[in-house]
Order: sequence, then C-alpha cells, then structure tokens
Amino acid sequence: MVSETTERKRSHITTALNRDVQAHVSTGFDDVSLVHNALPELDREEIDLACELFGHKLGSPVIIESMTGGTPIAAKINATLGRIAEELQIPMGVGSQRAAIDDPKLAYTFKVARENAPSALLLANLGCPQIIKEDGIDRAKAAVDMIKADALLIHLNALQESVQFEGQTRFRGALGRIRELSSTLSVPVLAKETGAGVSREIAVSVERAGVKGIDVAGLGGTSWAAVEYHRAREKRRTRQAHLGLAFWDWGIPTAASIVEVARSTKVKLIASGGVRNGLHIAKAIALGGHYGGLAMPLLKSVSKGDKEAKENLLSVIDELRTAMFLTGSKNLEQLHKCPVAITGKTREWLVARGLLS
Ligand SMILES: Cc1cc2nc3c(=O)[nH]c(=O)nc-3n(C[C@H](O)[C@H](O)[C@H](O)COP(=O)(O)O)c2cc1C
Repeated sequence: MVSETTERKRSHITTALNRDVQAHVSTGFDDVSLVHNALPELDREEIDLACELFGHKLGSPVIIESMTGGTPIAAKINATLGRIAEELQIPMGVGSQRAAIDDPKLAYTFKVARENAPSALLLANLGCPQIIKEDGIDRAKAAVDMIKADALLIHLNALQESVQFEGQTRFRGALGRIRELSSTLSVPVLAKETGAGVSREIAVSVERAGVKGIDVAGLGGTSWAAVEYHRAREKRRTRQAHLGLAFWDWGIPTAASIVEVARSTKVKLIASGGVRNGLHIAKAIALGGHYGGLAMPLLKSVSKGDKEAKENLLSVIDELRTAMFLTGSKNLEQLHKCPVAITGKTREWLVARGLLS
C-alpha cells in the first residue's frame, strides 16, 4: 500500500518533468549585465573557482538544490546526484525528509545520498509545518542524523502549501522554532524558499533568529503554484486549481531577492530559482550572492542518466569560468566586486524598495 506522501512525492517528480511548471515572469537576470573586460590580465586556466561553506572546501560555488526523497524513483535520483556531488565536491540538498520521519522504511531513499557522497557537504531538509510540531526539534535532529547532514535547510513554502490540496498551512511559531533550532542543533541552520524569493525583512528576521545561510529560491524558475495547479486539475480540485493559476507568478524575482538579502544580512547567500547556466551564477555572485543552486535542470538531466547530469553541471561550471574570464575576475572574491549594470524591471523593483537610487 503506497502512502499519500509517497504518492505525492512521485507525482511532484512526474509533474515537474512532464508539465509546464515554469514561471512566466523573468528572474531578472536579463536586467543584469556584467561589464565586459576587453583585456583581462589573466589566463582563463588560472581562474580559481574554489570556495568554502561551513568549513567544507568546495570545487566550485554550485549547489545541487533540494529536490526529492520518499519514493523509490527518488532513491535513484538521490544516488546519482550524490555520486556527482562527491565527484565534483559540491554541496547537495535532499528533498523534504518528512516522509521518512513519519515512515522510517523510506529513510533509504534519502540515505543513498550520503552513501554515494561520503565526504560531500549534504543539506538536510524540513518544512515549517514540521518544525513547529510539538516534537519539531526531534524531527529536525532525526533529519540531520538520517543523512549525517552538515547543515539543515528549513524550507519556507507558504505558497506551495496554500495551493496544494493536501497542503499544511500552519506556520505560526515557525520563526521561534528556527531560533530554537539554530541554538540547539549541532549543525548550521539555513532558511530556504522554494520559488517565491526572500525579502529583506524576512532575511533580517531569520538572521536574527540565528540562521547561518539563506537560499533565496526566487521567482522566475520552477513555480510551485504551477506544479500544484496541475496536480489539483488532475484530482478535479477546482478551487485549488484556480488558486494555482492566480498565484502562478507570485513572488520576488530571483535577481531582486539576491540584492534584498545581500544588502541586509551577512549570512551565506545561495541564489536559486531559475538559475539555468553559469552566467546566471556569475551575475548572482556579482549582485552579492555566494553560491548558485539549480533544481529543475538537474532533475531533467538526471532523468536521462548520470552522464547527462554530470555534463550539465560541468557546462554550468565552464560558463561560470568564462564569465569570470570576461570580467577579469581571477577568483570569486573579485567576481563579487565586479561592476554590474542593473536595468529594466529589476532596477525599478530595487528603486521602489529603496535599495537603489
Ligand atoms: C521536483 C522538485 C522537488 C522539490 N522539492 C523540494 C523540497 O522537498 N524541499 C525544498 O526545499 N525545495 C524543493 N524544491 C525546490 C527547489 O529546491 C528550488 O528551490 C526550486 O525548484 C527553484 O529552483 P529551479 O528554478 O532551479 O527549479 C523542489 C524542486 C523540484 C523541481
């Protein structure tokens, strides 16, 4: 007998792979130009992409975003992504571990990530409705222990839970729990959106609560309102389907969200949500981010095989290196300071929010 959660996890993967679930508005990366350096005083091969996160040395600032677990197909995906994370020495997130905490028989679908990535930085994952439960602290500890995680991501997915017909919309008390977790867990805690972005105000409050990192997961890539719209339609849940359509493009575009968080906090900033190539990551770093994360492109390539997923990431790294060469940035610190021109809607957003004059 397949549990409701297992079935939901399977349907998230198939819906994401087979339906149109992209936001219809831009991430804003098109509004951001890195100023070309016609005479970079360096050799492309001497460019250093190395960096660190929570004491782990990384091969490059690219992150495999949290995606899945809790269903047999997810075990295969997590095993493949784990192998690649290990080989390229990049961090990897697993999907929400709620399924395996409720049903320990499913823990293997997450543990395969660690089995295949013994030394890579792994990020555990739980949502707000889980951590606010009475046993929320124990749940978080169990998620970390399950994959011997190096950090815990708390996902903030109020939009998805609102549209999902089985959604859990209890969020009261989440900030207090994030504070409690930040001071009690043995690993760093990060806050992560899932496609609607993080504002300056929320960034400041979670930093005050003790998080050591924020993954903005902004608008412009995978839309969770869209994923849940398709699922609601299949189940003839008309009201939820209407909600999904109305909120398809809700959120803070990724480029704007990066600036919101970078200008207001000192935490490690992961830029994700519509990151589709290494140039996007270069722009994200020049805007103030530290790392770039991809979900959907990796889900698509991993479904074709190990080789495709690794090739995808190697291309992203190559594009990032090229952007660094063309801006004369020898390392990520220099890319961080590289001049950028911000135009269009992203500029308008930042001016309206008082982040640019
Ligand atoms: C199939 C799938 C499952 C996901 N599951 C989770 C999850 O369990 N927890 C989470 O924090 N984010 C989850 N995400 C969100 C991603 O981590 C990411 O924030 C979002 O998809 C935006 O990135 P993208 O535009 O590159 O897809 C999932 C994404 C996909 C595509």
